[in-house]
Amino acid sequence: MADQVDEVKQKTDIVSLISEFIDLKKAGRNYRALCPFHSERTPSFMVSSELQIYKCFGCGNAGDAFTFLEMYEGMDFYEALKFLAERASVKLSPVQGGRRSEKQKLYELNAHASQLYHYLLLKHKVGQTALAYLTKERGLKLDTIVKFRLGYSPDNSQVLRNFLVDKKGYQIQEIETAGLAISREKRVIDRFAGRVIFPLFDHRGNVAGFAGRLLPQSEKSDLAKYINSPETPVYHKGNLLYGLNIARGEIKQKNQAVIVEGELDVISSWQAGFRNVVATKGSALTEDQIRLLSRFAKELVLAMDTDLAGNAAARRGVSIAQNEGLSVRVARIKGYKDPDEIARRDPKALKKAIGDSVGAWDFIIDSIFSKHDIDSGEGKAGFSREILPVLVSIADKIVQAHYVEIVARRLKVPSEAVLEQLAKISEARKVEKPEIAIDKKKGRGRRELLEERFLTLIFQSEPDILSKRRDYSLIKTPLNKRIADEYKKYSSKNKKFDPAKFSEALPKELLVGFAEMVLADTQGLTDSPERLNKEFGVVVGELGELTIRERLKELGVKIREYEEGGKEEKLEKAKRAFAKLTDKLSSLEEQKISGIILHE
Ligand code: UTP
Ligand code: MN
Repeated sequence: MADQVDEVKQKTDIVSLISEFIDLKKAGRNYRALCPFHSERTPSFMVSSELQIYKCFGCGNAGDAFTFLEMYEGMDFYEALKFLAERASVKLSPVQGGRRSEKQKLYELNAHASQLYHYLLLKHKVGQTALAYLTKERGLKLDTIVKFRLGYSPDNSQVLRNFLVDKKGYQIQEIETAGLAISREKRVIDRFAGRVIFPLFDHRGNVAGFAGRLLPQSEKSDLAKYINSPETPVYHKGNLLYGLNIARGEIKQKNQAVIVEGELDVISSWQAGFRNVVATKGSALTEDQIRLLSRFAKELVLAMDTDLAGNAAARRGVSIAQNEGLSVRVARIKGYKDPDEIARRDPKALKKAIGDSVGAWDFIIDSIFSKHDIDSGEGKAGFSREILPVLVSIADKIVQAHYVEIVARRLKVPSEAVLEQLAKISEARKVEKPEIAIDKKKGRGRRELLEERFLTLIFQSEPDILSKRRDYSLIKTPLNKRIADEYKKYSSKNKKFDPAKFSEALPKELLVGFAEMVLADTQGLTDSPERLNKEFGVVVGELGELTIRERLKELGVKIREYEEGGKEEKLEKAKRAFAKLTDKLSSLEEQKISGIILHE
């Protein structure tokens, strides 16, 4: 087992792996990118090819090739292993290859279920009515039905149970965990019985869950027209986009994703040749969905019938997307109920609607203007009530200022008036603003920072440059000291410093700390021996000074103790040491001053 994992690791290059997902730029001996795990405008995500690890200095996310796939693609260890093995052409042993995680088992169970439903729709007579509904009433071609693997779950039947338990050997418990069935008094009831089935694929093509639509003849019942899988270990409503597995290539190529509400909007659009369309399934865009889309495209076109102006959650989506650097536009679907209808009846009009899309904030502000007679005082008040929450939800202050101007001009009032109102409600509504991950260095003291700088300079420079000036006694905090000790051991045996070799021998708990030092951005310092030496001198000086101050503090405490306890001899000794250190400190400070005078 370990052997094959090692082999896969050996044959995987983290730089080329991560490059398949995000843009990496060379930065010294490392690679740098905008962090895919949090919002940022200046890149702090670093990848080291020597160490085969990555680390984000903004959000702290760090790890190896496996961790990256786990975090970025939501894979678990065995999925990542299979993925990397295939990529590196390593043939996994049957045991290894057959290993499945809990999540993979659920994906497989779902895939079996979706194949059954698909078969019943297309090939079995229980599916006839549903098939006629899809082809005749919804205008779907067989190809399309196959492409989206649509299905039918027969009403009131044990088909699913018989197939999954008797034929495929699953436990009833597993079927319940997958959200496919509810068992009641020994009977297993298919949650989706009597419904047209839409398998919900994640962007990698796993069947994460299902949606089921009633047939028209049942629509008058009080059952919901659509139901979805409940949250399961593999289905999370908020981070799946329906159709992304099929649309991702086209979305990337067009650098644009069209976002609609429902499954059938995606499917009809696809059939009409619009292949960059995905659906949120009736809800507002979430941060996870936006982050996922932002990997593939820079422009989002919303073609949904949500009331953007009146729906705070929908506006929040717009704001988050903009903060992620995406442009968000709105397409108006005029004269038709939804994109499904327009795609079937008038694809040219759909094309035009997408082409004529307008900026989301412009769209929202326009639609609020059109609702009020702003020439009357009452109209102005109504308008103001609606527009202010919108302006508040624009998180980017520059963009917000732009729209404040526009609104003020159209209202014929000074922009200060709008700003003033805005300030009032901003206070009251702070919660509505999207929370963007914040860059924070976790409470590290000055000593730790200096020590890290000290070791960073050593690890990032050629060893001979600094060989004479390594005073490791300056390093005192436990983890840094252990790293320094490891390095001393290493350098007594090795002439040249090889970070990869060094990190191999390093205990796991020290690896992240070390990685941080190797990957830290030294702004080109290590390219210039002169500047490097100077910087090193400064760090050593500061650490030395800090050490003296710490020592003085300790001695101060002791002196008081000895005075109180009447321990004359010890007291004298401590006082002498104190005086000596004070002298040293002042001469250090003098040097610093003359250093500044000489150098600046
Ligand atoms: P709609 O109910 O607005 O769709 O739901 P529609 O256009 O009238 O339905 P069709 O075209 O006749 O089939 C839009 C989407 O919202 C989700 C579904 O994904 C649906 O496609 N939805 C809707 C739910 O998840 N649950 C619901 O109860 C309703
Ligand atoms: Mn519809």
